[in-house]
Amino acid sequence: LSEQKIVMEEIVMNEKNPSIAIDGPAGSGKSTVARLVAKKLGFVYVDTGAMYRTVGLYCAENSIDLENMDEVKKALQKVNIELKYDEGVQHIYLNGEDVSSAIRVQRIAEYASKVAAIGVVREKLVEMQRNIAENGNVVMDGRDIGTNVIPNAKAKIYLDASVDVRTERRCHELEEKGVSFDKNVIREEIIERDNFDKNRKINPLTIAEDATIIDTSYMTIEEVENKITKLFMGEVE
Ligand code: DC
Repeated sequence: LSEQKIVMEEIVMNEKNPSIAIDGPAGSGKSTVARLVAKKLGFVYVDTGAMYRTVGLYCAENSIDLENMDEVKKALQKVNIELKYDEGVQHIYLNGEDVSSAIRVQRIAEYASKVAAIGVVREKLVEMQRNIAENGNVVMDGRDIGTNVIPNAKAKIYLDASVDVRTERRCHELEEKGVSFDKNVIREEIIERDNFDKNRKINPLTIAEDATIIDTSYMTIEEVENKITKLFMGEVE
């Protein structure tokens, strides 16, 4: 009987706040698509990568030794992260300061990937993420959302794209920003970060058993958006 009760409670929780979990490697199109799907369904978009980037930014700015766990724990106590929304766009605050742009540089992406491999960092951020998901309908993207953060999400998506396509997308973004780059370096950075995120010990990037894999290499943003919305509505397998 108690087992039945637990199952029922899980279902009720799931139905109360049906959510969408989107995981995948860097440049697979997660954030662009997640934002659009959230807008369409009136859900809150939660970019969990931004949270790891924010911890990374704090550690970079304060020269925290990531090998020294006492130092990392002390640093974490001083990190206050807040998510605020302005017309549906997520802004992330580090100790009261909007760092949404400051976290979007390659150096901080690398720091993010490193701090994301540390257990105490993940514990803190995963707890925040679960709280958000329990309190509303979310489209949440990251690396461990379907496998760990919200395993009872109504739709679980694993977005992927070839390394070449992801490199092209990243170069295009930089071009638009007017930043100069070397395509081969960008390609290597993408491969290196993926390897690190896929091979770390704690909650690495993996494909959830019940996730739908979407290869976005040759799809338009609109096609991906429609497919995810349909999956959520239960209109396609
Ligand atoms: O999605 P992104 O590039 O902004 O993420 C930055 C890093 O944060 C990424 O390299 C791995 C880590 N991350 C994670 O480990 N788990 C998540 N749920 C989201 C991001």
